[in-house]
Amino acid sequence: MDLGLADRTVLVTGGSSGVGLATVRALLDEGAKVATCGRDADRLARAAEHSGAGPDRLFTAVCDIRDTAAVHDFGTRAADHFGGIDGLVNNAGQSRMKRLDETTMDDWRDELDLKFAGVLNPLAAVREQLRASEQAAVVNINAVLAKQPEPRLITTGAARAGILNLSKALATELAPEGIRVNSVCLGLVDTGQWTRRYAAGSGLSYEEWQAELAADRGVALGRLGRAEEVAYAVVTLLSPRASYITGTSLDVCGGVGRGIL
Ligand SMILES: NC(=O)c1ccc[n+]([C@@H]2O[C@H](COP(=O)([O-])OP(=O)(O)OC[C@H]3O[C@@H](n4cnc5c(N)ncnc54)[C@H](OP(=O)(O)O)[C@@H]3O)[C@@H](O)[C@H]2O)c1
Repeated sequence: MDLGLADRTVLVTGGSSGVGLATVRALLDEGAKVATCGRDADRLARAAEHSGAGPDRLFTAVCDIRDTAAVHDFGTRAADHFGGIDGLVNNAGQSRMKRLDETTMDDWRDELDLKFAGVLNPLAAVREQLRASEQAAVVNINAVLAKQPEPRLITTGAARAGILNLSKALATELAPEGIRVNSVCLGLVDTGQWTRRYAAGSGLSYEEWQAELAADRGVALGRLGRAEEVAYAVVTLLSPRASYITGTSLDVCGGVGRGIL
């Protein structure tokens, strides 16, 4: 099926690794043009080089999503470069592994800032361009954690729940502007987030460690997900073929979610 993404432009935050990188690649495969950012210039340059896409298809900028002015500059330059923006994927970020008693007020502020700025800064930067597009769509990368709290991720879970609520509100607020907004909620996906934790040391091979992790967290499919499996869902929601889908949240989690909503 042709997803109708050829020559559309999508801005993906955090496209130098993991889910963001897989989404950039999937969009390029669909013939879309992509703008992406990250904080580490070398990693971003390596990702761009490996994609094989030239500047006519891929625009990159070093930018921290918490920095409103920098994100505005990135969005403006990307829109000027490609002549518009049709889609936005708010993906950049990471989780904070802490329990309540290990968490300071600064941790709470930092986590809420990262999660909310990660959606609101890029949206503000490209909202005008999205409004001008005939088929505008936003996908917010979230986590099943938003609906299923875990003590060991207390700040991230609370922030994720807020982002899920915000996504729903944005779907209603932006519908009159022709902008659809949906969420993709991840379970455990094999990316830098987990390789960094494995590097912290366990004595097991990475495969053994992953299998134990999946069992411990009750992943029905018994394994971590792959970034490409998430990218497929993201690209589908960005597609004009999904033109009647807004305000929804899609779990890509291998069955780790226990709720029915
Ligand atoms: N993997 C999972 O199991 C899982 C589960 C639930 C939710 N998620 C969420 O899914 C999203 C993608 O995570 P991932 O697993 O693909 O992680 P990843 O492999 O670590 O990739 C994260 C990407 O975001 C960028 N990034 C991080 N903080 C940033 C910032 N402040 N400003 C700009 N770019 C930033 C990183 O580049 P730089 O470091 O160079 O900035 C990188 O490109 C995150 O929001 C994460 O919290 C992941």
